[in-house]
Amino acid sequence: MDIETQVIHGGNQEDPLTGAVVPPIYQTSTYHQYELGGEAAYEYTRGENPTRFALESVLANLENGQYGYAFSSGMAAISAVMGLLKAGDHLIIASDVYGGTFRLVHQILAPLGITYTAVDTADTSAIQAAMQENTKLVYLETPSNPLMHVTDIRAASDVAHAAGKLVVVDNTFASPYNQRPLELGADIVLASGTKYIGGHSDVIAGYVVTRSKELADQIKLIQLSVGAVLSPQESFLLQRSIKTLALRLERHNDNALEIAKFLAEQDQVAHVYYPGLPGSADYEVARKQMRGFGGMMSIDLQPGLDTKYFVEHLKLFTLAESLGGVESLIEVPAVMTHASIPREIRLANGIKDELVRLSVGIENIEDLKEDLRQGLAAL
Ligand SMILES: Cc1ncc(COP(=O)(O)O)c(C=O)c1O
Repeated sequence: MDIETQVIHGGNQEDPLTGAVVPPIYQTSTYHQYELGGEAAYEYTRGENPTRFALESVLANLENGQYGYAFSSGMAAISAVMGLLKAGDHLIIASDVYGGTFRLVHQILAPLGITYTAVDTADTSAIQAAMQENTKLVYLETPSNPLMHVTDIRAASDVAHAAGKLVVVDNTFASPYNQRPLELGADIVLASGTKYIGGHSDVIAGYVVTRSKELADQIKLIQLSVGAVLSPQESFLLQRSIKTLALRLERHNDNALEIAKFLAEQDQVAHVYYPGLPGSADYEVARKQMRGFGGMMSIDLQPGLDTKYFVEHLKLFTLAESLGGVESLIEVPAVMTHASIPREIRLANGIKDELVRLSVGIENIEDLKEDLRQGLAAL
C-alpha cells in the first residue's frame, strides 16, 4: 500500500471488540484481572492501553517498521532511545540537531558519563572519522533543524553498520510521508509527533519505530519503566490527524517549494535554506531519499535588515515556536528554538543570530506570498 492508503487503513485502526471504525478512547488507568495471578493482556495503562496500541501499530506501519511506541513528547521518545546508552558509551550526533536534543546530550547524558562527538553528518567521512571503539550509535536528523541540511541516510548507515554501530534518525521534519529512514538502512526512527503527525498544533507527542525485536524489547522496557507514555486522549487525537497526513503534506510540500522560490527572488533575502531548490547543495540527496521536500525552510535577510521588525509584522505567519501545523509559523532560532545551545557552538554550526525559520502551512499560496511581500516591503 502507498502511504496515502496506509494513513487510512494501516495498522489496527478498527476496534476488535465492536468493529467501531474509529478506535475508541479507552480512558482507564487499570483493568479488571479476572483471575489472581492469571495472564491478563491488559493490566495497567502505563504498560498496555488499546487506544495507544492502535496508534502505535499505525505509526509502525507508516514508518514501514514492525514495532512502534508512543511517548508523551518528542523529547521523551528521544530520551527513551538514549536510554539504550550506558556510562562509558559514546555517540555521534549531527552538529545542528534540534536544540532540545543537544541539551539532553550535553547537559543530561554527558554528566552521566556518556560522551559525544558532534559532526556534520552530511559528510560521511566526518562520521567515519568520529567513530570510536565505544561508539554505540550514530544519531542523525535530516533535514536538520534549522539549516535544512540533508544527510544521505543510506551512506551514513553503511558507514555506521560497517563498524557495528546503530543508526537512529529523527524524522520530525520530513514525516514518514516524505521520508522513511528504515527503508534507507536506519535501525531506529523517531520523531516528535507534535509536528506533522499531530499537524494541528494541539498535541505534544513522540514516537519510536524499529524493525528489530531486540531493540523493540529494550524500548518497550524503557517506556514501561520510565513511564513517559502517551495518554489515551492524545493517542486518539494523533490517529485522527494521521488520516489527513498525506493530504496535508502534499500541500505543505507544494506551498513550501513555491515560497522558497519566491523568497529566493526577493532583494531583501540573502539566502534561502531549502533542500528543494535545485541550487541547494542538499538537492540531489534530498531528491534521492525524499518524496517531497517538506514544509520547513530558513532564510537570511540581507545584512542590516531588522529581523525583529520583520517577524513581528507578518499577519498570517504567526511568531511562534514549533512547526508542522496547518498554520504558517515563523521564528528566530537563536532566540527561540535553539536558545539552549551556547552561542559560540550555535555560531560555529552556522546558526546566525538573525536566521529566520519558517514553517509553511496549508493556507492559500497567494495569501502567504502576499503576507511575506508586505513584511519584506515594510523593511
Ligand atoms: C527535530 C525535532 N526533534 C524533536 C523535537 C522535540 O519534540 P517535542 O517538542 O514534541 O518534545 C523537536 C521539537 O521542536 C524537533 O524540532
